[in-house]
Amino acid sequence: MKHYIAPSILSADFLNLGESLQMLNKSKADWIHIDVMDGVFVPNITIGFPVIKQIKQLAKKPLDVHLMIVQPERYIDRFREAGADILSVHFEASTHLHRTISAIKTAGMKAGVVINPHTNVCVLEDIIIDVDLVCIMSVNPGFGGQKFIENSFSKIINLKAIIAAAKSKALIEVDGGVDNTNAAKLLKCGADVLVAGNYVFSSKEPTKAIADLKNL
Ligand code: DX5
Ligand code: ZN
Repeated sequence: MKHYIAPSILSADFLNLGESLQMLNKSKADWIHIDVMDGVFVPNITIGFPVIKQIKQLAKKPLDVHLMIVQPERYIDRFREAGADILSVHFEASTHLHRTISAIKTAGMKAGVVINPHTNVCVLEDIIIDVDLVCIMSVNPGFGGQKFIENSFSKIINLKAIIAAAKSKALIEVDGGVDNTNAAKLLKCGADVLVAGNYVFSSKEPTKAIADLKNL
């Protein structure tokens, strides 16, 4: 399978979000990654339902919504109504992860689980068959533009083995500090989806930055 590219709009110019979305529509981006932060699970607050609803009106690609919020199970239907196609919750924020993953799928979305840099992939062994996506955070969640954590490479390799052993169809997404210096190695280790925020939106040619990641 050719890998997917999911630019994160966290680093976009919010005063010109429409233009960024048009750019993404025309680009080789596969998904649009949207970071939702609540100021409790992570030390930052970003966007919520009204903005996602408006993004949905313009976006021609699936919305990959990354929830960095406590008790994400409370808002599953609201994110579906807002337009999420893929909804990912943090392992660290989910007491009843199996129930939450089931509820996301019942609501008609693809279900993902995200793990922080300190969380070992082995904790996913008993849920891997149920999820469509595992997102490995390669920075501590909360902010764009942070430095990639090198340990993420081995986490991808270990997760790939868990997925294969369980005959799971889960995709491996990597989120944080992804750029042209680490993308090829991430794919070689087994990543299926690359999220990139700062690398894409700080580029003078975002469309080319996306194409460069896609063409690896
Ligand atoms: C961080 C977010 C990321 C972020 C990635 O908490 O989950 O999606 O936008 O941005 P970069 O690529 O700039 O690290
Ligand atoms: Zn994210």
